[in-house]
Amino acid sequence: MTRLPAHGMDRAQLMATLEDIIAQDLPWRDGKAYAYVYDAGREVEAVGRDAYAQFLFQNALDPTAFKSVLTLENDLVGIATAHLGGGPQATGTFTSGGTESIMLACKSARDTAKARGIDRPQMVLPITAHAAFHKAAAYLGFEVVPVGVDDGFRVRLDEAEAAITDRTALLVGSAPSYAHGVIDPIAGLGAIAQTHGVLLHVDACVGGWLLPYWKRLGEDVPAFDLSVPGVTSLSVDLHKYGFCPKGASLVLYNEPALRQAQYFTCTAWTGYSVINPAVQSSKSTGPMAAAWAVLHHLGDDGFMDIAQETLAGTKALREGLSAIPGLRVLGPPDFCMVAAASDEVSVYHVVDEMQARGFYVQPQPSYGPAPASIHFSLNPKNTAQVAPLLEALRASMDAARDLPAGQLGPVVSAEIAGLSPAEAQQKLTALLAMAGIEGTALPDRMAPVHEVLDALSPRLRAALLEGFVAQLFTPGG
Ligand SMILES: Cc1ncc(COP(=O)(O)O)c(C=O)c1O
Repeated sequence: MTRLPAHGMDRAQLMATLEDIIAQDLPWRDGKAYAYVYDAGREVEAVGRDAYAQFLFQNALDPTAFKSVLTLENDLVGIATAHLGGGPQATGTFTSGGTESIMLACKSARDTAKARGIDRPQMVLPITAHAAFHKAAAYLGFEVVPVGVDDGFRVRLDEAEAAITDRTALLVGSAPSYAHGVIDPIAGLGAIAQTHGVLLHVDACVGGWLLPYWKRLGEDVPAFDLSVPGVTSLSVDLHKYGFCPKGASLVLYNEPALRQAQYFTCTAWTGYSVINPAVQSSKSTGPMAAAWAVLHHLGDDGFMDIAQETLAGTKALREGLSAIPGLRVLGPPDFCMVAAASDEVSVYHVVDEMQARGFYVQPQPSYGPAPASIHFSLNPKNTAQVAPLLEALRASMDAARDLPAGQLGPVVSAEIAGLSPAEAQQKLTALLAMAGIEGTALPDRMAPVHEVLDALSPRLRAALLEGFVAQLFTPGG
């Protein structure tokens, strides 16, 4: 069993041990990882790191004691509302990430609806919207009303409008969606929101910061920000394409009353009065200071340079992908997040083959009308790697053509048909063992595992993955 050491370790020894621990992680500094990390280079990283460390132990819980929070957060919110079309009343809150920003916008919508007598609120949600909305719905007691998308994975406006009822508390659009990098028709959603008097949240977590620069560079970026009539709130993550260290996002509102509906206040206990604008209570000011520093270090011209670089890289990536026989780009995408599918080979094999060639690209399972695909989030560090990436992809596609695919899915479906979820889970453990998974050890090649998972209903897939992750987080395991 893991125990606290009887005697403290010295600092040098600890740091060396931590170096060994971090060495297990996905390498990302070489620009060959196309997910998870948003890397603008060592200089930006150093600025964020220094500011983070300087403010690490300041407690943002109480802005009357730690007044630095007010300077930093008010600056960040002001910069972001100006950047994203906010009117004179626009305001917002700094949060730990996209999920927290979305949860807060949903809490605001729920409590605003409640004040209007809606006790069982609904959220009208495109199937391409981020999972964070489903999480918010689960935590906050929303019913999700899913809405379909067109061939380009943009929400269908007629379906969205038809889904609105007298219980609708929130309508959602993405700018862009994570999976395919496409921007929903926000102006159309705004018109619907206004007609029916419902709130509209734009999830601009990934794209919100860079898209205004792409527009200034002449790209045809559809209107998506707070200036679009009908938009009431917007989330934008600074820890993604704002290149700030993790723990940095903003939720913005066009009206102060909507922001206040997200607050939580408690004066009904024996301790200090709790007034939490966001979810966390005690929290480090580090992420906020780091975000402030990175934004001021890069400045408008720095972001313009990054926008230019990512735009050029994205064009090269899209063209290169389209030229590879057997691959097709989905969308087309509006941002530097691109998904490609294949009707000829298993994309899961391609992902494995890419890994063997030193590239990390993300597998996306099929869902509804969206086929299984390979996701690429491109950031500045990746741009130099686009040509080698495409070369590796061509080789990976060739290799994947010779590998078996498509057999496991039907076997799994046949084996579990008619079983209860509990029986199906037991059976699946055996099937996954066939695919190479025993306990928590993952095989080098994950394609068979993805194929099995893809054949399951989303509910069963979720149950199985939950069980697996619970096993991963086992002390001493
Ligand atoms: C469009 C979108 N919204 C929300 C989120 C959730 O953000 P986070 O992981 O910072 O909580 C993500 C994450 O990738 C995203 O892409």
